Amino acid sequence: MKFFADTAEIADIKELAATGLLDGVTTNPSLIMKSGRDFMEVTKEICSIVSGPVSAEVVALDHEGMMREAEVLRKIADNVCIKVPLTLEGLKTCKALTSDGSMVNVTLCFSANQALLAAKAGATFVSPFVGRHDDNGFDGMQLIGDIRLIYDNYDFRTEILVASVRHGIHVLEAAKIGADVMTAPPAVIKGLVKHVLTDKGIEGFLADWAKTGQKI
Ligand code: E4P
Repeated sequence: MKFFADTAEIADIKELAATGLLDGVTTNPSLIMKSGRDFMEVTKEICSIVSGPVSAEVVALDHEGMMREAEVLRKIADNVCIKVPLTLEGLKTCKALTSDGSMVNVTLCFSANQALLAAKAGATFVSPFVGRHDDNGFDGMQLIGDIRLIYDNYDFRTEILVASVRHGIHVLEAAKIGADVMTAPPAVIKGLVKHVLTDKGIEGFLADWAKTGQKI
């Protein structure tokens, strides 16, 4: 499963990229607002740090407007992935952009039928939001399972990008289902390495090593 960082914070992206574990980045207008940075500038900087797909979201709601914005965004770098909302206008834009060789991430997916439409529109990625789905009393992981089943039934190439990931259980369940990608806040990704027994084990080994008086 590929790991994308869901952030526009350069320091976090650099830290994760240095681990070799980062396959891409997703941003959205809220994350850009949180960063306090200029959209074009920060997106360009992220694209220079990460070689994988970097999702940058359009804000127009009509097809012509989305196409205009996508034209601007795709000039930023070759690894920009245009993010469009899961609406009829967004799907129309997705079809046009992917037919033209651009990567497209269809975002704000909350049902398996929506994901089916995204695949039919030729999306590179579809982003089902599991955390927000759970928050509203639905089962986010059931949604991922349903999309996996449908995509496998028809051999759709669209990658399932599990988004709105809140904790390690989301990551684990997404991997068990066979999702292609997950995007999570840097703290969630870094938290995956934590285990109390790992820390305890290191502590014990180091204490015994000190007793040997040896050096490597
Ligand atoms: C995905 O691309 C979105 O940016 C993101 O995962 C939204 O997550 P949230 O529900 O935590 O805002």
